Amino acid sequence: MNNPVRSPKNTLLARIEALNCRIQEAKKRDLYPYMHSSDAVDGVHITIRGKPMLQFSSYSYLDLLGHPKINAAAKKALEEFGTGTHGVRFLTGTTRIHQELEKKIASFKKTEEAIALSTGYGANCGTISALLGRNDTVISDKVNHASIVDGCILSRAQFVRFEHNDMASLEESLEKAPKKGVKLVVADAVFSMDGDIINLPQVIRLCRKFKALLMIDEAHSLGVLGKKGTGIEEHFGIDPAEGLIDIKMGTLSKTIPSIGGYIAGNSKLVNFLKHSIRPFIFSASLPPASAAAAKASFEVIEEETWRIKKLHENMHYFLKTLRMNGFTTLQSQSPIVPIIIGDDAKALEMTRLARQEGIFIVPILPPAVPPHTTRIRTTVTAGHSLQEIERAINAFARIARSLGIIKP
Ligand SMILES: Cc1ncc(COP(=O)(O)O)c(C=O)c1O
Repeated sequence: MNNPVRSPKNTLLARIEALNCRIQEAKKRDLYPYMHSSDAVDGVHITIRGKPMLQFSSYSYLDLLGHPKINAAAKKALEEFGTGTHGVRFLTGTTRIHQELEKKIASFKKTEEAIALSTGYGANCGTISALLGRNDTVISDKVNHASIVDGCILSRAQFVRFEHNDMASLEESLEKAPKKGVKLVVADAVFSMDGDIINLPQVIRLCRKFKALLMIDEAHSLGVLGKKGTGIEEHFGIDPAEGLIDIKMGTLSKTIPSIGGYIAGNSKLVNFLKHSIRPFIFSASLPPASAAAAKASFEVIEEETWRIKKLHENMHYFLKTLRMNGFTTLQSQSPIVPIIIGDDAKALEMTRLARQEGIFIVPILPPAVPPHTTRIRTTVTAGHSLQEIERAINAFARIARSLGIIKP
């Protein structure tokens, strides 16, 4: 007989209750750091309950939010098509603007074609699960984004995780993978929690050796890596025309101030995906105004290369100065800079004190990151001035010293 006290339903209710209690307790002590509603945002500032703050946790790497050309493109599309399409891309939701966006993405990523979806999450989940099945193997970096992990699980392929950015571990996983069936290696280009960069040349070498397909998620490298901001191939001096990355995934919600995700690749692959990705076939299409904003953003990245130069300068200065102050920032080589705290309570307190001083940051706690690696995940953008970066770092250092996070 089921014990009514410990039934599965009661266990679930107890879990829900426990989480609600933790949230309530944190809110009472003004330590709840999530879902604050902001009255105004741009890449560099945020206003919450009337308090303007410097933003150090935005993905607006090139500070494109509110760019006049991008806003004008969105407004024009809004006038022409209204606010939505009432349809999925596959049936009634494709407009001329969606097709123009896909053409632009393909030309930017130097591939034959591209497919644009309503979210990056859907692009990852939908693509991996459309390509793989039970007899296949997907080999994924241990700290890949959740949307990749979910796609791997959804595909029902054998799901193998290699140690983070560890090429010996990747090689071992490829060696052990069954000979029959497709092998797909998948990794973030810039890791969203650690800010480091995948060792693409070695990953490519191993994929060729073991005849595996390669998928790279460029959510945080588009507009960020390479002098022209075209991404990870440019960073490593790899010619995109060689087609060494089979599936190039990216988002339209980080550097690109819109919403959506894309897959760029050869025509046959993209055409296959257009007929098989479930979020493309069963979920409503990207609003035309968002698609127009995304297309205009790619043009701005090409036209205003000074933004990428400024981002790189800011990124080097931010990283160097944080490290000089004694912060642990892992192997970050990008605008995403984790400040490792380890202790949840200290991370929450540091967040509260920094916000009090007018610097907006967010803490990331397990299970989103491995146990004992609770961090403040900071980001720097092309929009920050050197004075603003210094102001933030001075505040971080003062607060971290007072909490015993760094040495006095
Ligand atoms: C590495 C990575 N991939 C995919 C996604 C999902 O993208 P989207 O927010 O467009 O759904 C994110 C979002 O944070 C991400 O960081």
